[in-house]
Amino acid sequence: MKNIYDNLALAAISARDSAYSPYSGYTVGAALLTKSGKMYLGSNIENASYSLTMCAERVAIFKAVADGEREFSAIAVAGAKSGERVGAPFSPCGSCRQVLSEFCSPDTKIIVVTGEGYELYTLGQLLPAGFGKKDLV
Ligand code: THU
Repeated sequence: MKNIYDNLALAAISARDSAYSPYSGYTVGAALLTKSGKMYLGSNIENASYSLTMCAERVAIFKAVADGEREFSAIAVAGAKSGERVGAPFSPCGSCRQVLSEFCSPDTKIIVVTGEGYELYTLGQLLPAGFGKKDLV
């Protein structure tokens, strides 16, 4: 039987299908699990004004937050060149790590899809000593 991380990894791979990435030709999929048990998918959305591109992870997070969700337990990411089945494993960019940290605890799991399966990290490992609401008091 597949575990929840396997399911998130598979969902992230299929989320790549809806990527809009005509400029980089790189497709990313993200599958975000809320603490309430729902899954939200995201894919990267590029723009002719390149800097307005939005990463797959933040698309998934913003969809969930707009839907009223506020707490997440895991996110899986998968990326590869358009048309290729698997790409080299990557972990979320710095901006996505920061946005994740707004709604996640340091033990939130980051599932990085690889050719064979996935690698498991925590947000605390990927964003140690980050800036957050605690710094604004
Ligand atoms: N990208 C993501 O979707 N997530 C990341 O964490 C890193 C990069 C996208 C943005 C852009 O569309 C493409 O990958 C190449 O940078």
